[in-house]
Amino acid sequence: MATSLKSSFKRTPQAHQVESHTSTKMDVEKVFHMTGGIGKTSYAKNSSLQKKASDKVKHIIIETVEELYRATTPKSLGIADLGCSSGPNTLSIIKDIFEAIQGISHKVLQPATEFRAYLNDLPTNDFNSIFKALPDFQRLLRQDTRNWSESPAIFMGGYPGSFYGRLFPNNCLHFVHSSHSLHWLSRVPPGLYDEEGKSLNKGSIYISEASPAVVTQAYFKQFREDFSLFLRSRSEELVVGGRMVLIFLGRRGPEHVDRGNSFFWEILYRSFAILVSEGQVEQERVDSYDVHFYAPSRKEIEDEVESEASFEIDKIEESEIERNDKKGESYGAVVAMTVRAIQESMISHHFGEGINLDALFQNYAKLVDEEIAKDNIDPITFVVVLSKS
Ligand SMILES: C[S@@+](CC[C@H](N)C(=O)[O-])C[C@H]1O[C@@H](n2cnc3c(N)ncnc32)[C@H](O)[C@@H]1O
Repeated sequence: MATSLKSSFKRTPQAHQVESHTSTKMDVEKVFHMTGGIGKTSYAKNSSLQKKASDKVKHIIIETVEELYRATTPKSLGIADLGCSSGPNTLSIIKDIFEAIQGISHKVLQPATEFRAYLNDLPTNDFNSIFKALPDFQRLLRQDTRNWSESPAIFMGGYPGSFYGRLFPNNCLHFVHSSHSLHWLSRVPPGLYDEEGKSLNKGSIYISEASPAVVTQAYFKQFREDFSLFLRSRSEELVVGGRMVLIFLGRRGPEHVDRGNSFFWEILYRSFAILVSEGQVEQERVDSYDVHFYAPSRKEIEDEVESEASFEIDKIEESEIERNDKKGESYGAVVAMTVRAIQESMISHHFGEGINLDALFQNYAKLVDEEIAKDNIDPITFVVVLSKS
C-alpha cells in the first residue's frame, strides 16, 4: 500500500527536511481534511464552486486523455486523482475520463482497455464515503460501456498519503489529475516564526499588505520545495509520455496581495477579529494561526517545472472562477460554507473544538457580501498540462 511504498522512495536532503519540520507545529498531514459525510457542513454538500471551476476546463482534461491514449494505446491504463476528497467531484471526473477512454479505444479499434483508477488524499480524508459509493459507481460505468463493446476490467482503490512524496510504484500511471488541491502546501512554512516560535505575521493569516517581506519569502520557499518534490515524485510514477492536468488557484501577476486569493484569507482574519472583539477567542490564538496555502503566479510555476526538468509544459491556461449563486442563498453564504468545509479541521485543531464556527462563518458570509457589493472579487485558477519527457 501507499505507506510502505513511500518509504522506498530515495529521499533527497530537501525531501527529508520537509518531513522533519512537519511535526514541529501543526502536523498538516495528520490533521487536514475536508469535512466528511454528507451533512449540511460537509465538503460533499459544499463543493459546487470547485465543480463549476473544473467543469469549465473539462475539455482540456478530456483532450489530454484522448491524446495520451492515441499516443500510447496501453492495454492497462492507470490514472490517479490526487487530493480527491470525499464529495461527488472525484467520481464525476473519473467517469468522464473513463468514458473518453472507452470512446477513443472504440474509434481506434483497440480491445477494451483495462482501467485502473487510484484515488489519493491525506489519511484523515473520509475515504469510507467514496468506498461505499464504489460498487454502484462501477456498475454504472459497466452499464454505459454496453454501447461500445465488451466491458473492460475496472480496478479502483484509495491511496492515503501526501502527494508531496511517492505514492505509487514506478511507471504505473499514464495520467494524473489533480483539482483544487495543489495550492495546499505540505506544512505552514516554518519561516513564519521567530526563534521563540512567535509568528512574524501578526495581524494576518496569509500574505497581506501588512506582512513583512520575510513572510512572502517563507511562503514562496515552501511552494518551491513542495512543488518540485511533487514533480519529482510523479515523474517516477508516470510512464514516459504520461500526462498530468493540474488545476489550482493562482495569481495573475507578481503581486502577492489581490482581491482574488489573498483577499479571502483577509476576510477570514476579519471574521476572527470579530470573535476576538466579542471575547470569544484570544488575540494570541489568532496571531499564531497561519494557513498552509500558496497561490503561485504563472512564472513561478513555469520556473519550477523548468528547474525540476522531468516534465514539458504543454499548456498553462488561466480561468476565472465565476460566481455561484445557489437558490435563496447569497454568494457570501456559498463561499462561507465552502471555506468552512475546507478549513474546519484546521481551525478546530488550533482553536479547540469549542470555537463558535457558526458565528465565525456567519461573519465571513456577511463580510464577503459587503465586499462584493463594493467591487468584484476575481479568483483565478490555473490549468497546467504537463508531459513526462
Ligand atoms: C478542496 S479539496 C478538492 C477536492 C476535489 N479534488 C475537488 O475538486 O472537489 C482539496 C483536497 O486536497 C487534499 N490535499 C491537500 N494536501 C494534500 C496532500 N499533500 N496530499 C494529498 N491530498 C492533499 C485535501 O485533503 C482535500 O481533500
